[in-house]
Amino acid sequence: MNLYKLLKESQKPEIYTPGTSVMWTDEHISKKLLEIHLNPDLDLASRRESTINKTVKWIDSVAGEKNLDILDLGCGPGLYSKRFAKSGHKVTGIDFSKNSIDYAIKENISDGLDVNYRHGNYLELDENEKYNPVILIFTDLGVLLPDERELLLSKIYKSLKPGGIFIFDVINDKNINSKVSPKNWEVSDNGFWRNSPYMTLSNSFIYLEEKVILFQHLIHQEECNLETYRFWTHFFSHADLDSMLNEHEFYEREYFENVLPGYDMWSGDNVTFCVAKKRS
Ligand SMILES: C[S@@+](CC[C@H](N)C(=O)[O-])C[C@H]1O[C@@H](n2cnc3c(N)ncnc32)[C@H](O)[C@@H]1O
Repeated sequence: MNLYKLLKESQKPEIYTPGTSVMWTDEHISKKLLEIHLNPDLDLASRRESTINKTVKWIDSVAGEKNLDILDLGCGPGLYSKRFAKSGHKVTGIDFSKNSIDYAIKENISDGLDVNYRHGNYLELDENEKYNPVILIFTDLGVLLPDERELLLSKIYKSLKPGGIFIFDVINDKNINSKVSPKNWEVSDNGFWRNSPYMTLSNSFIYLEEKVILFQHLIHQEECNLETYRFWTHFFSHADLDSMLNEHEFYEREYFENVLPGYDMWSGDNVTFCVAKKRS
């Protein structure tokens, strides 16, 4: 192990310095992620089953119409998409995890549903006035880098039908300091990160001015380079959301607190749901 390299990589990096590796599309990690998505009692990767049911009901009540054309961005294994399809909506789901999309397609066939699942990067979405609503659920907007977020918002605006709505959730900026996780380590021979022996050193760093926390995981394997996974998580006030949405002409929007039960960082009063409307 090169301890100098480890020492260097363990320091707080300049904001938005990329890691060496990406989690969602790694073959081993995406298998583990799928197991976590499908665990009905966990609030990781996807929210737990009871919360998903509640969210789907809430979205249905906010959208308020039957036979909608829903676009589910980052649909994972289709936990929301299939529920919307079962209640009669037309649904398109996009995700760049092949493993999740393959699972969703299999389930689509066995359940006799007609969700249009697509394997792809939603940052490359290129469709005009097709959907209402577009949804992006589980605080995913907040983990994009600012440039990616801007790009996605402009693509979502274009893809919405006139008067259509974009529904998403973010982690709000209440008590940001309490959202930093303590240092942690793990040694395993077949765990979340790898299927052969590895060591993980996890830490998080706060960038208060930008309202960002970096969740960082350093993975070390014998005879392998050190690999770094970085998740830049952004926190938003209503004013932050207002200025971000104004830039993209979402002049009508509504915010909702405490939509979901729970007390962790990804639920209860830590999460703000937003419904942003395109001009009619
Ligand atoms: C936290 S999970 C949430 C999945 C789903 N929305 C849910 O709550 O069950 C984020 C999902 O977004 C997908 N994802 C992340 N970035 C993406 C991108 N640029 N294009 C397509 N999918 C993406 C990941 O593969 C993953 O399935």
